[in-house]
Parts: sequence; C-alpha cells; structure tokens
Amino acid sequence: MHQPAEAAGTYTLPGTTLTVNRMGYGAMQLAGKEGGKMVWGPPPDMEEAIAVLRAAVEDGVNHIDTSDFYGPHVTNQIIRRALHPYPQDLVIVTKVGALRGPDGSWNEAFTREELTQAIHSNLRNLGLEAIDVVNLRVMFHRFRPAEGSIAEPLSVLAELREKGLIRHIGLSNVTRTQIEEAQKIVPVVCVQNEYNLAHREDDALIEELARQEIAYVPYFPLGGFTPLQADALTRVAQELGARPMQVALAWLLHRSPNILVIPGTGRRAHLQENLQAAALHLPASALAALDAIPPANREH
Ligand SMILES: NC(=O)c1ccc[n+]([C@@H]2O[C@H](COP(=O)([O-])OP(=O)(O)OC[C@H]3O[C@@H](n4cnc5c(N)ncnc54)[C@H](OP(=O)(O)O)[C@@H]3O)[C@@H](O)[C@H]2O)c1
Repeated sequence: MHQPAEAAGTYTLPGTTLTVNRMGYGAMQLAGKEGGKMVWGPPPDMEEAIAVLRAAVEDGVNHIDTSDFYGPHVTNQIIRRALHPYPQDLVIVTKVGALRGPDGSWNEAFTREELTQAIHSNLRNLGLEAIDVVNLRVMFHRFRPAEGSIAEPLSVLAELREKGLIRHIGLSNVTRTQIEEAQKIVPVVCVQNEYNLAHREDDALIEELARQEIAYVPYFPLGGFTPLQADALTRVAQELGARPMQVALAWLLHRSPNILVIPGTGRRAHLQENLQAAALHLPASALAALDAIPPANREH
C-alpha cells in the first residue's frame, strides 16, 4: 500500500544518490517558546513531538529539515530520540550559519570556528557520523536574501565535506549571484528560501534552478508563524472539500517539479492533514484563482 507522503512522487538531489519523497517535514516547530523567544527550549508536549516525527516517517516522510539552532539543540535531540537508529532512506538536512543569543536572537555565525563547531554539534545531537545535506544559512539580512560574498564560509563547509563530515551542500536565504558564486566552489544540491502563495519573489529563480535540476525547498510553505490567509485560498479549499493549508501545499507541489515541501507542525492532526496534500489535485480553475492571490506585505 502506498504511504501518504509518496503521492507527490520523488526527487533525486542532483549529482547524488539521495532520492526523497517531494512531501517532507520541517522540524523547527518542534522546539518550544519561552516568553518572546521563539523556537526556544523544550516543546510544551514532548510525547506529542516524538509522536509527530514517528508518524511522519511511518507515513512515508524521508526528508526532514532541521537545525541545531532550533531550540538550540532541542529539535535535533528530539529527532534523535524519536528516530535513531534512522531508517536507511531518511535524508536529514540541517543548516548552519547562525547562533542564538541568550535573549533568543538569531545571529550570524560564519567564522571557521563557528561553522566547524556547528557541524560537530549537529553530528553529536543527531547521532550521525556524516550529515547528508548541510545548508549554509546566509544572514546578511535575517528575513530575506541580501547580496554579499559567501565564498569564505562556503569554503569552510567544502573543506568539512572533503573530510567526510558533510555529504552535500545547499544554500538558504540566498540570491542568484550567491548561488553562482557558490557553484564555483562546490556543487549546490538545494536552495531553501522563503516562498509560498503570498511570497513569490523567487519565481524566476525557481525556473532557473529547475533547469539545473537543483531542488528548491520553500521555507514557510504555510506562511510560517502566521499561517497563510486569503479569501481565494479559503474558497478553493471549500470547493475542493480540502483544508486551506492542504491547498497551499498542493499549489507548491504543482508549481514546479523541483519543489520539495517541508511543512512544519508540532501536532499529529496537522501532520496528517499536510501529508494528504501530496495527493490533492488542483483543477485549472483552482490554480488560476490561487495564482491571482496578491503578494502579502512583508511584516519584516
Ligand atoms: N532556512 C530558513 O531560514 C528557514 C526559516 C524558517 C523555517 N525553515 C524550515 O522550514 C520548515 C517549515 O517552516 P515553518 O514550520 O516555520 O512554517 P510553515 O510550515 O509555513 O508553517 C508552520 C505553521 O503552520 C501551522 N500549521 C501546520 N500545519 C497546519 C495545518 N494543517 N493547519 C493549520 N495550521 C497548520 C503550524 O502550527 P501547529 O504546530 O500548531 O500545527 C505552524 O504555526 C521549518 O520547520 C524549518 O525546517 C527554514
């Protein structure tokens, strides 16, 4: 019997033997919250967090996105507790390039020492000897791509790859110029930028990456901390007998074959809803209505 996460098909990261279901899972929401500190400390319900991860894998998810700066450390530790020893086909993608301050802030951590420590911290907390994919999360602007050379930090990751601690490298929060700069240093297998129904600044970039068979992994696929809301989204969902978040995910999966989705949730009920989106067909009229949703104003 097919598992829910298989329904949208698979994608092989370019130049690798890593093939994942296009419907994946993003683990950031598993960490807790402490006052104004988001993605901080243990989750409110640890058993539910573990159950979400186990249910995801049972339902066919074999691509999990994480970082050691979620929690910090907490999300990776939950993944290890829930899933180690890992299924052979599970691809865990992490990111480095930021460190959390004691006040919960997210700060650039691009020095050789910081990047090396981040890789070792991910390996330790995930219980791995090598990480399948590491994204360099660029922090020149915290919420959107901003120009600037990434050659130095990327060269450090390339060296750690030579040493066998990292198998493949991706980029996050980057511009096309930065991707081109990176490709002169190391093969880039995936790009993770913010993109969803209401934020489509990367439309042209997605086409370009599709031509190169590089995976595009939109972060905040459901709108992030403030889930997407639009009249057209609600209407289409009603017409299809689906939930709005399912429609938002189905739209992304339809948008381009190189898009892999990693919706985040700390609840099994939402996980099940999200996974079902892999099988949701959007008719042409629904696609037209969704494509016409106007861009949202940036909160940041
Ligand atoms: N590279 C980067 O800079 C970056 C930045 C942010 C995130 N990420 C990655 O991208 C992944 C996805 O982003 P995200 O988790 O922040 O945001 P998201 O997937 O866009 O949305 C998650 C939010 O939607 C809610 N939600 C999930 N499923 C739902 C459903 N079926 N119905 C209603 N609400 C639902 C979640 O709440 P509940 O928990 O209550 O379900 C949560 O508040 C993260 O987990 C992380 O791995 C990367």
